[in-house]
Amino acid sequence: MKKIALVTGGTRGIGHAISLGLRKDGYEVVATYHGNEEAAQKFRDETGCDAVKFDVANYQECEKAVQQIESAHGPVEVLVNNAGITKDGMLHKMPEENWHAVIETNLTSCFNMCRLIVPGMRERNYGRIVNISSINGQKGQFGQTNYSAAKAGMLGFTKALAMEVAAKGVTVNAICPGYIETDMTTNMKQEVLDSIIRQIPVTRMGQPEEIADLVCFLASPNAAFITGATVAANGGQYMA
Ligand code: CAA
Repeated sequence: MKKIALVTGGTRGIGHAISLGLRKDGYEVVATYHGNEEAAQKFRDETGCDAVKFDVANYQECEKAVQQIESAHGPVEVLVNNAGITKDGMLHKMPEENWHAVIETNLTSCFNMCRLIVPGMRERNYGRIVNISSINGQKGQFGQTNYSAAKAGMLGFTKALAMEVAAKGVTVNAICPGYIETDMTTNMKQEVLDSIIRQIPVTRMGQPEEIADLVCFLASPNAAFITGATVAANGGQYMA
């Protein structure tokens, strides 16, 4: 029987590598995206997978999309909440909308997607949820009060939901990537990035595939005893 995996923000960056990894593991992958049509089309062409456009921060849009995805493909067995944005800036200069945009896209999206998908997982007594948090949710980061708060919020959300669904065969885990080579980090000022790389004991940034491999393991039936965990993959930059 086909198994469906849904990856938010799954057409680019870390999400793209996760989509490819889950596809290699035999899942029918559906990726979501919000803005970048060109990347979405490239993803469809190279993988043959579906890419669905909606705003994960908007509950009504999520509801419509999840209904459409489940009737076209089948029930979602693996959900990866990966979609995220940054709007960096020091708090005393941060416009109110940059706070709300980051909290809603990175954290409220987890509520939206889980609220819609968890009931089916509970009924079927099986499910895997992997939330992509960040090293900066664990340690904080200068210029990221919004992002660090959202990513730390995902860790509490993960633990609370893991407790609620554990007896129903559903696991919920969080991964905290460190600095990974994607558009999000290449858009940073070079001198800021260089100073961060100097703090990474393995002396380099991570690759998206190094996060995808971890997601694939947590999404597999073999990871049934791992739930509510926060797994770091940061080259040793922060050892919690
Ligand atoms: N620690 C201490 N002081 C710092 C600092 C730091 N990390 N970064 C900057 N400062 C200081 C500067 O030296 C400067 O001090 P002076 O005025 O005394 O010279 C002051 O703070 C202001 O700095 P800027 O001139 O750089 O201020 P800005 O408003 O132009 O930019 C910023 C601020 C946007 C936050 C910028 O510092 C920045 O981009 N920081 C990096 C944020 C970051 O790491 N983002 C991660 C993106 S990737 C990601 O999020 C993925 C993931 O999950 C890991």
